[in-house]
Amino acid sequence: MTGAEGGDAHVVLSAITRVYEGRPLDLALARGEFFAVVGPSGCGKSTLLDVIAGLARPTSGTVVFEGARVEGRVPDGVGVVFQEDASFPWLTVHDNIAFGLKYTSVAADEALARVDYAIAFMGLTDFRTAYPAQLSGGMRQRVCIARTLVQKPRLILLDEPFGALDQQTRLLMGDELLRLWRETGATVFLITHALDEAAMLSDRIGVMSARPGRFLEIMETHWPRTRDSTIVGNDDFGRLTSRLWTQLRGESIRALGHAGAVGVNQ
Ligand SMILES: Nc1ncnc2c1ncn2[C@@H]1O[C@H](COP(=O)(O)OP(=O)(O)OP(=O)(O)O)[C@@H](O)[C@H]1O
Ligand SMILES: [Mg+2]
Repeated sequence: MTGAEGGDAHVVLSAITRVYEGRPLDLALARGEFFAVVGPSGCGKSTLLDVIAGLARPTSGTVVFEGARVEGRVPDGVGVVFQEDASFPWLTVHDNIAFGLKYTSVAADEALARVDYAIAFMGLTDFRTAYPAQLSGGMRQRVCIARTLVQKPRLILLDEPFGALDQQTRLLMGDELLRLWRETGATVFLITHALDEAAMLSDRIGVMSARPGRFLEIMETHWPRTRDSTIVGNDDFGRLTSRLWTQLRGESIRALGHAGAVGVNQ
């Protein structure tokens, strides 16, 4: 098992495989941990997230969340933010966020209070009656995160939530995600293709190989819980991102099928 063994494991993946033959994948996330996954395009990151969320079944192995096996549906307490912008164009910001509570047993006044809180927390107060088409890409992603936040998830799974944003907006959204993580105490599992994002945000970073994806290495960052994007000026940050790139370069080339052309044949 990889990391977080023992009593405080919040999520445990044991001997997971899906479809392809290959080494099974083990991972344990500690409660309140911020874990990021990086890996070449197509290596199975989104597939792994789907397995953890209960949206895809592993071919073998088990996922356990808070002591119960995950099977066939997203467990209570788990929130998912998908790779693509999933806001509903026909609903206002307020109604998009409230949608996250539509099919739950949360009472109406509590639901409204949570929606108001999430709108304020995500800095969307001036846009509560706006429609997604009137928002920037970053704001639309904040709507999607707020929609998950209102469910008060104890485990938040995010699939490249800032993939479409420019660099500076991405770093600032990262700060907001860190604030959310600190204030809610949730466990976060974040897929990203941005190595700097992984290095800045996480307690641990899992580096995945080309398909069939498995963890080549799991790096610990040792950042304080109070970190934010100013960490990008830190020497350790530079060392971490360059180590990530060293690990990933060969894998990404392999994933693209260009190994011969650029002389990488490991
Ligand atoms: N272990 C696996 N078993 C079955 N199918 C897989 C596996 N890994 C990846 N795939 C398939 O490969 C394709 C790409 O996988 P996936 O979307 O998970 O990759 P990704 O790492 O999220 O890529 P990207 O970085 O481009 O988003 C999908 O069609 C998926 O079904
Ligand atoms: Mg993906």
